Amino acid sequence: MEPSIAEDENGPVAGVAYAICSMSDIPSQRARGFELSRVAEDGTEQPFKIVVVRWGRQVFGYENICPHDQVNLDWERNQFLDPNGIRLMCGKHGALFELGTGTCIEGPCKGKGLRPVQLAVIDNDICVVGVTLAEEEEDDDEEEITSCSDEGGGV
Ligand code: FES
Repeated sequence: MEPSIAEDENGPVAGVAYAICSMSDIPSQRARGFELSRVAEDGTEQPFKIVVVRWGRQVFGYENICPHDQVNLDWERNQFLDPNGIRLMCGKHGALFELGTGTCIEGPCKGKGLRPVQLAVIDNDICVVGVTLAEEEEDDDEEEITSCSDEGGGV
């Protein structure tokens, strides 16, 4: 399926949008990881691991790479939040990151930040925008990447 030009309830979104899951797949105040692949400018495919946090109708996306040691944040699969559930936490040394900005506010990489991933919510799907994703061919337990439709007028 060809990706389409994206438009969300706030108007057009620059570039192509790739639906990675439905809003209902991530409960509010929870986070979930996705192992995607993106196409670099030279045409090569690179792993693109991201974490998506949902907070009500808001979603925040970051690359799943701790700025301290460049490891994934979830040392237990999909365990991204601190015990209070209000910050992202790296499982290796416990760095804490603000949900809305990705800035490290406590821990060995204090002051640094997670790399943001641009998201849009289109027809109740959470979509990655601003990058070119490679289509997955294998069908394991990951969600298949599909394109967003721009039908309908938003919610
Ligand atoms: S690797 Fe994340 S806090 Fe050290």
